[in-house]
Amino acid sequence: MDPLLEAALEARSHAHAPFSKFQVGAALEDIAGRIHTGCNVENATYGLTICAERVAVFKAISEGARKFTRIAVAADTDTLTPPCGACRQILWEFCGDVEVALVNPRGKVETLRLKDLFPRPFDASFL
Ligand code: THU
Repeated sequence: MDPLLEAALEARSHAHAPFSKFQVGAALEDIAGRIHTGCNVENATYGLTICAERVAVFKAISEGARKFTRIAVAADTDTLTPPCGACRQILWEFCGDVEVALVNPRGKVETLRLKDLFPRPFDASFL
């Protein structure tokens, strides 16, 4: 399997999801080929929960990466789990029209582009 998909599945095993029990992993590839992983981290207030995708983006940014080629998102659903709306906004701002690969533990994979998941985005070009 593609190492990026494997990294997302592996990252999912680190999910801290005691409230929803819904574990998600993400793996973001930068232009140097480096993989930055993330998992969802929930919080007792619920609202402070952060999704796997945003953890991966913020970890990557904090380590100096700035350009990205692909992100993989792993969850255990038969209808593959796409990024939530908030994550789509963050992905658009930091990664542009990145490739988005969705995967589940049974090896089902679907590849999309962010532009199709997030048409007509608002971003800094309007400011
Ligand atoms: N979640 C993610 O981490 N990424 C997604 O793409 C969908 C939702 C998390 C947030 C929360 O911890 C749990 O899944 C249920 O919504």
